[in-house]
Amino acid sequence: MALRRPMVAGNWKMNGSALLAQELFKKFAAKLNNDAVEVVLCPPTVYLESVRQQLELHREALNGSIVRMGAQNLSQHDFGAYTGEISGGMLTDVGCKYVIIGHSERRRMYGETSDVVAEKFAAAQKHGLTPILCVGESGPAREARRTFEVLAEELDVVIEKNGTMAFDNAIIAYEPLWAVGTGKSATPEQAQEVHAFIRKRLSEVSPFIGENIRILYGGSVTPSNAADLFAQPDVDGGLIGGASLNSTEFLSLCAIAT
Ligand code: G3P
Repeated sequence: MALRRPMVAGNWKMNGSALLAQELFKKFAAKLNNDAVEVVLCPPTVYLESVRQQLELHREALNGSIVRMGAQNLSQHDFGAYTGEISGGMLTDVGCKYVIIGHSERRRMYGETSDVVAEKFAAAQKHGLTPILCVGESGPAREARRTFEVLAEELDVVIEKNGTMAFDNAIIAYEPLWAVGTGKSATPEQAQEVHAFIRKRLSEVSPFIGENIRILYGGSVTPSNAADLFAQPDVDGGLIGGASLNSTEFLSLCAIAT
């Protein structure tokens, strides 16, 4: 087993259904059979219970394969008058182990600042969840050669609020905005360069964290480009959007990651 167990996490975004959960688990039960990869499903909140039921139903057939549940967002608050929000405690309660934090769609469309992202990171850990922290530069930022500067800023706000040791229980997902949902993935070399940068930045404070943290790549990953991306030394799997909605493609990504 490699030092860092590869992870393939499916971010359904605002897609999917209880039926998709059934379909996926039927395939997992028949074909996954593999504990060399950790599989995470992040459905819309209303389908967490469907995923949990499927997980229970197929536990035996999964035969040691590691399949876990994650949410796509959480509130930075614990409880109270926050209509429409969901707290970390509630997510833990329904069986989540992970939660995606700071996805570019939330930063861009829902005004989540890096400070709010840092607070959500803390809230997740407070409630026993492992944050999957998304970071990534825009197309114009890359063209202006500001990629590392943007990533350093996004990371540093979370480090300043939570401390580097908080990354002992976290996953990072590098999701360049120009690759998310565009069909234009980063090249394996581009992904590796950024992943190495992130790992080095964390290593500077804690070599242990730098070496052990899993860094996923996200942005137009499909079965046809995944092998080269996942083969990069600092790429520990993927955070998958579109391809996580197709059970055949998602299962094949899980196989490629091992
Ligand atoms: O979080 C996953 C993501 O944003 C990538 O989406 O559809 O490009 O795989 P997609």
